Amino acid sequence: MGVTLKLATSLDGRIATASGESRWITGPKAREEVHRLRAMHQAIVVGVETAIADDPELTVRLPGFVGLQPVRVVLDSRQRLPLTSKLVREAGRLPTVVITVRNPNKRLTDAGVTVLRVAESDGRPEPKAALEAIQGYLGQRLAERFPGVPSEGVEMNVMIEGGGQVAASFLSAGLVDALEWFRAPIILGDEGRPAIGAFVLKELAAAPRFQRLAVETLGDDLWERYGKA
Ligand SMILES: NC(=O)c1ccc[n+]([C@@H]2O[C@H](COP(=O)([O-])OP(=O)(O)OC[C@H]3O[C@@H](n4cnc5c(N)ncnc54)[C@H](OP(=O)(O)O)[C@@H]3O)[C@@H](O)[C@H]2O)c1
Repeated sequence: MGVTLKLATSLDGRIATASGESRWITGPKAREEVHRLRAMHQAIVVGVETAIADDPELTVRLPGFVGLQPVRVVLDSRQRLPLTSKLVREAGRLPTVVITVRNPNKRLTDAGVTVLRVAESDGRPEPKAALEAIQGYLGQRLAERFPGVPSEGVEMNVMIEGGGQVAASFLSAGLVDALEWFRAPIILGDEGRPAIGAFVLKELAAAPRFQRLAVETLGDDLWERYGKA
C-alpha cells in the first residue's frame, strides 16, 4: 500500500499557530490540489488532535466529482472523537473509521463509525498495524462492491493529512513513500505547531530521506513533491 504524507506549512515548517489555528495557511489553489490528491487515495488519515482542532470533513469537494469518496480514518487510542464532529455526524453516509487500541466504544459504533482495534506501541495504535487494518478494511469494501474479484494486486493508496505527531510516527517508522508539501510564504515562528513532531534520531544517516520529483507554483504557494530516495 502506498503512503503519502501531505503537509501544508509555513516557510518555517509550521502547520498551525501555538493556539492551533491552521485555516488557512495555504491559498485556494493549493487547497484545490489537496482535493485532487484526496481523489487519488482510497483513505485519508488524521490524528485525533487534528480531528478535534479542525473538525475536518476529509472529503473530495471538486466541481463535477462523481468518484468514490475516500474512507476517512482517525487514529484515536481512547476514542475521543466527538459525536458532534463532522466526521461522526456524516459517518452514516461516508465511510468513517476510528483506529484504536481499546474495545470499540458503542457510542461511536452506534453513530455508524467502524472502530478497528489494533496492536499498540506506547499506548497508541502502532503505525504498521494501523496501515494493515486500513488495508484490510479497504479490501473488504472492495470485495463487497465486486464480489468474486480478488483484492490482491489492486493498488491502494493512503494519504496522511496530519497533524505533526502522526506525521512523526509514520516517518520514523519508515512508512512514508511520498511527500506532497504545500508551502506558504509566511513565518509562524518557534511557538507554531511543527509539521513533524518529535522523534528520536540517533544520527543524520538515519534521517528519513526523500528525493524531490517536482516543484510547482500555486498562486503564492509552492508545491513540492517528493518520493522515497
Ligand atoms: N496545516 C495543515 O495542513 C494541518 C494539517 C493537520 C493538522 N494541522 C494542525 O495540527 C494540529 C494537530 O496536530 P498534532 O500534532 O497536535 O496532533 P495530531 O497528529 O493530529 O494527533 C495526535 C494524536 O493522535 C493520536 N494518535 C493515535 N495514534 C497515534 C500514532 N501512532 N502516532 C501519533 N499520534 C497518534 C494521539 O492521541 P491519543 O493518544 O489520544 O490517541 C495523539 O495525541 C492542529 O492544530 C491542526 O490544526 C494542520
